[in-house]
Amino acid sequence: MITILAIESSCDETSAAICRDGKILSNVIVNQSVHEKYGGVVPELASRAHLQNIVPVVDEALASAGCQLSTVDAFSFTQSPGLIGALLVGAQFAKSLSLALDKPLIPVHHMQAHVLANLIPANKPGFPFLCLTVSGGHTQIVLCEDFLQMKIIGQTLDDAAGEAFDKSAKLLGLPYPGGPLIDKHARAGDPNKFKFPEPQIPGLDFSFSGLKTAILYFIQNEKQKNENFVQQNMNDICASIQQRIVSILLNKLRKAAEQTGIKNICIAGGVSANSGLRKAFAETGEHLGWKTFIPPFEYCTDNAGMIAITAYHKYLAAEFADLSVSPSARAEW
Ligand code: KG4
Ligand code: ZN
Repeated sequence: MITILAIESSCDETSAAICRDGKILSNVIVNQSVHEKYGGVVPELASRAHLQNIVPVVDEALASAGCQLSTVDAFSFTQSPGLIGALLVGAQFAKSLSLALDKPLIPVHHMQAHVLANLIPANKPGFPFLCLTVSGGHTQIVLCEDFLQMKIIGQTLDDAAGEAFDKSAKLLGLPYPGGPLIDKHARAGDPNKFKFPEPQIPGLDFSFSGLKTAILYFIQNEKQKNENFVQQNMNDICASIQQRIVSILLNKLRKAAEQTGIKNICIAGGVSANSGLRKAFAETGEHLGWKTFIPPFEYCTDNAGMIAITAYHKYLAAEFADLSVSPSARAEW
């Protein structure tokens, strides 16, 4: 029996999870509301909040799994990428436990973990599979050939899909993080009311910065004619923006599936919570004969459960690190 305690602290969620033999027994996530009024995550405040949260979060993960610290076989943490001060809190905590209890230490790459979150539910994809990982910091299409064998075959050249949602929301005067609010307004709007451009980027890469500029000019223009334009058309604007972001994502995913011939297709990351993306993904999958997978919501946004499942497979492959390992804000795989 292998029990792993994992910690995720790369951005503004403090999370701890217990995984036993590949099953997640607990996954405790604490969000940091302190950033709301700043319209984005403030790194220094994130580090401080992680320091306050980490002991109670780890205690709760152990308690709700019915597990003692002394029975943990390995300690794991998010090594990269992320905010360096935030990563350091989780890394130092896991290193201290590993040193004190003389158990192995397993650093995990956050983006690999988003992909392997698809292996947490009972209904999981077989290998090889493609995963579209869409979060606030990343947009990638990953070809996953085995548990720890993955390569990025497409990625954003500028903003991430989550940023495209959040920055669009900011232009509409919605608070941070705006992605879920665009989703909410879009449900009541007409997605064909306004047309935003689809970027012409070759291959499997993405770009969202042009869309942001197009939205900015569109709003400025319309406001000159009617200063209440945004308030009066909020649902339709949100639905139109969402439809464009979703079509950019799915067109590339469709292309990746065509090029690789792979039909096991997953999405992961915070933006996979978007109702428009989920619906279009399911419809495209049905149309093209894909087997589609999306992890349950608590494993889509940042969480330690995905770190724990990745650490479990690294444990089986004996991929351990010594105490000199340090986190890194940016890291290639
Ligand atoms: O994976 P995640 O929790 O954190 C990162 O690693 O970045 O993703 C957060 C991102 C934010 O940009 C947020 O606005 C977006 O996911 N998001 C959504 C929705 N829920 C979260 N975007 C659109 N629609 C949603 N329902
Ligand atoms: Zn993430």
